[in-house]
Amino acid sequence: VIVSTASSPDQAGALAATAVLEALVAEPRAALGVATGGSPQPLYASLARLVGDEGVDLRSRTAYALDEYIGMPPDHPESYHAVVARDVTGPLRLRPELVHVPNGAAEDPVAAAAAYEEAVRAHGPRVQVIGIGANGHIGFNEPGSARDSVTRVVELTAETRAANSRFFASVDEVPTHAISQGIGTILAASTIVLIAHGATKAEAVAAAITGPETTDVPASFLRSHPDVRVFLDEASASLLPQHTH
Ligand code: GLP
Repeated sequence: VIVSTASSPDQAGALAATAVLEALVAEPRAALGVATGGSPQPLYASLARLVGDEGVDLRSRTAYALDEYIGMPPDHPESYHAVVARDVTGPLRLRPELVHVPNGAAEDPVAAAAAYEEAVRAHGPRVQVIGIGANGHIGFNEPGSARDSVTRVVELTAETRAANSRFFASVDEVPTHAISQGIGTILAASTIVLIAHGATKAEAVAAAITGPETTDVPASFLRSHPDVRVFLDEASASLLPQHTH
């Protein structure tokens, strides 16, 4: 794991965007794996600028989202279908038909999860952007998720639903379940770029990078991957020992 600490979330986003673009350019067939949430927003904003300034054409890139709520129609503004379209597909000028999000509205979410796992794995190389939850989750792999877990139906913890209630009128509107890529699915990417900012992430970041590899902190499993780059602002890096950043 290579950790870079920047003075602000925007700076961290700019560094992370450069890393993502380098990895994509190095692997012309690689898919772009995308995360939702507040963490990657500075990364996407910088990447959109870079793509525009340098005339990089991402129109032939396939993209895969990490997760989607279950039971939310895709046209709901807080469904990850809608968030990915807004934050990623539009700004990066990807082709919508090449941007995939798990089907959380499927009649059979278990089958939809299995089909998604197969599609992600079949594509081949992937440059994966991820955030981290305050409880150490990646995607919606809550504490307890196995290192070799695959895309599946997961139940969200009360803590995660409370954290995500800021996007909804009340916590009761936050779905209770989601389809999420597994930790094993995420670890199959060739390059993983983790981005985080803010003091609320400091504990999870420190546990993931310096604590034991454990199902209690799903992000700690990233340490067994050969190419993980972590981009932090000072607040989210504040509990790391000095030499790691
Ligand atoms: C969300 C997502 C994750 C995300 C995390 C942190 O619920 N499923 O992919 O990384 O929780 O969210 P945020 O970046 O908004 O803090």
